[in-house]
Amino acid sequence: MEVNTELIEKILKKWQYRKDFLIEILQDIQDEYHYLPRLVLMEISRYLEIPLNQIYEVATYYKAFSLEPKGKFQISICKGTACHVRGAATVQGALERELGIKLGETDKNLEFTLEAVRCLGCCGLAPVITINQDVFGKVEANEIPRIIEKYRKGQTITASTKVTSGGSRP
Ligand code: FES
Repeated sequence: MEVNTELIEKILKKWQYRKDFLIEILQDIQDEYHYLPRLVLMEISRYLEIPLNQIYEVATYYKAFSLEPKGKFQISICKGTACHVRGAATVQGALERELGIKLGETDKNLEFTLEAVRCLGCCGLAPVITINQDVFGKVEANEIPRIIEKYRKGQTITASTKVTSGGSRP
């Protein structure tokens, strides 16, 4: 992996090269790379004069950060009780088949990461999955290929399938 020095400097400049903005800097790096590459963290350590082990302490403390490569789209499947009862396992199976990966894995093109989460707080819409910031409620296994295909093609998901915060599926 090549380190994009220009990008790192742009992010550091945005945060005025300040050590006390380390979390914000790491967030921006994660947004760009979808994880925190070791080589980039080494550069941050050099620029900010923070020991690498201290950066790792922060990176491993917050669950939002990942040290492993993640897909551009992170799919979370709710495994809470309501979603479990309403067929989360079937939806999980459909996702695994469609993506060719198991729960906890990322596909080789770094397009999708599939992970499980506990209750997402919208149990009335069970079973629920999220894809990055998008929420899908009352998902049925047979809808999965169509939903995934749209992300692969970079199309916008229509309101008939997507539930936005505060909304409900028509
Ligand atoms: S159990 Fe899935 S949203 Fe609550």
